[in-house]
Amino acid sequence: MKIKQFRYGNEGNLGYLLWSGREAVAVDGVAPDEITAFAEAEGLEVKYVTNTHEHRDHIHGNEDLLTRTDAVNITPDIMCSIKVLKIGSEQLEAFPAPGHSEESIVFYFNDDNAESQGNGSLLTGDTLFNGTVGNCYTKDYELYFESLQKVLRFPPETRIYAGHDIFDYTTGVIQRIDPDNPYLNQYKASYVRELLSTTIAQELRVNPFIRWDDPSLDTYRASLGMPHSTPYERFRAMMSVH
Ligand SMILES: [Fe+2]
Repeated sequence: MKIKQFRYGNEGNLGYLLWSGREAVAVDGVAPDEITAFAEAEGLEVKYVTNTHEHRDHIHGNEDLLTRTDAVNITPDIMCSIKVLKIGSEQLEAFPAPGHSEESIVFYFNDDNAESQGNGSLLTGDTLFNGTVGNCYTKDYELYFESLQKVLRFPPETRIYAGHDIFDYTTGVIQRIDPDNPYLNQYKASYVRELLSTTIAQELRVNPFIRWDDPSLDTYRASLGMPHSTPYERFRAMMSVH
């Protein structure tokens, strides 16, 4: 599927239009004006409006999109039960990823973006960002850990498109927590504003919140004064400074 990223607001909200042939789906359609204008210019029919989760800053464009198009609203709960949406000749899949919020889901699709080289890509919403993870608003850290493990089971080259651009902030945090990280400068240089993304491989090199198997963070984690002998405990300890 083809992908276009849209931006909205001070929190760097990112929304997406995915399409195959003439059929499109808006995921977290945060910029309804731009999305409908783009769809019209490209001759696309927005068939569905869906979301990675139902926080206001992700769903506030839904109403406009549903009014201005013939699209059907597929809530995260519906998406979880149907699992697959057919878009043109391709499909958008989803799996539950609770933790940031109860209804959080992650989408999976075959990505035509040249950089993704035909691999599958994920829309992770506020579950996984470039360089960090989301707030665990459910307070169920074990569930969030399981959801992140599900994401990280995808192949390393899998591309990730997140729900916010907080790149400057997250790279600043990594710089502070892990100043000797040999991949950080290269990671910073990989920033592309027009279509911000990352990969699982990149995140496993820099993102301190998912590197629970990386011994180079052991000293920092030990300094937090929390248990850190299992992968989950190392995740939980890092979340105390999130
Ligand atoms: Fe959120």
